[in-house]
Amino acid sequence: MAEKRPAFIVRPCFEQDLDQVQLIYAHHVMTGTGTFETDPPDLAEMTNRWSRLVSKNAPFLVASPTRDVTRIVGFAYAQQFRDREAYAHTFEDSVYVAPAQMGQGVAKALLIHLLQQLKDDGVREVVAVIGDGENKASIGLHAALGFRQVGLLQRVGVKFGRALDVVLMQRSLADRA
Ligand SMILES: CC(C)(COP(=O)(O)OP(=O)(O)OC[C@H]1O[C@@H](n2cnc3c(N)ncnc32)[C@H](O)[C@@H]1OP(=O)(O)O)[C@@H](O)C(=O)NCCC(=O)NCCS
Repeated sequence: MAEKRPAFIVRPCFEQDLDQVQLIYAHHVMTGTGTFETDPPDLAEMTNRWSRLVSKNAPFLVASPTRDVTRIVGFAYAQQFRDREAYAHTFEDSVYVAPAQMGQGVAKALLIHLLQQLKDDGVREVVAVIGDGENKASIGLHAALGFRQVGLLQRVGVKFGRALDVVLMQRSLADRA
């Protein structure tokens, strides 16, 4: 029996993908609390952010349907947790999936690839700074991939009139990918 093809692939994000990346992110900025940004960055700003990361060899990945690799259904990137040199081995991840494609394993595939790339690059600790203590999808996603909660910042954000917590989760890459 023929092996079932995966429904989507994970690949590096190219500049021509950024208009779709911008649309996905804008949706989450305007409708959700997973990001505390309130004004969607335009394409020029998304291009600046992408350029800054890829110029430092930080991973910026997209997921595309196998049948149409020009379409983007989600993206993930990682950046050094804080700029100071002593944080060089600690990165923070971010993952966003298009609303119509949620719940199909897109984020899990993106994060597995992101963690592997970070490990290959010598990163030792990965931190998730999760907007909204009620963000069950992101908390569940990170827990499924071996992150554990290491902190809770209470009421540090306000969006849509709600005071919001930030959940800090962490995973070590020292022993497994
Ligand atoms: C969080 C997010 C990226 C998850 O994307 P997704 O593609 O729907 O997630 P997946 O289908 O890959 O799910 C992977 C795992 O996460 C967990 N998960 C996903 N959605 C969940 C939910 N609503 N409740 C609880 N756990 C959930 C499950 O463990 C799931 O594994 P399983 O299906 O084998 O049980 C997506 O909901 C999103 O874009 N949210 C808004 C932006 C955001 O909060 N990003 C995170 C910023 S840190």
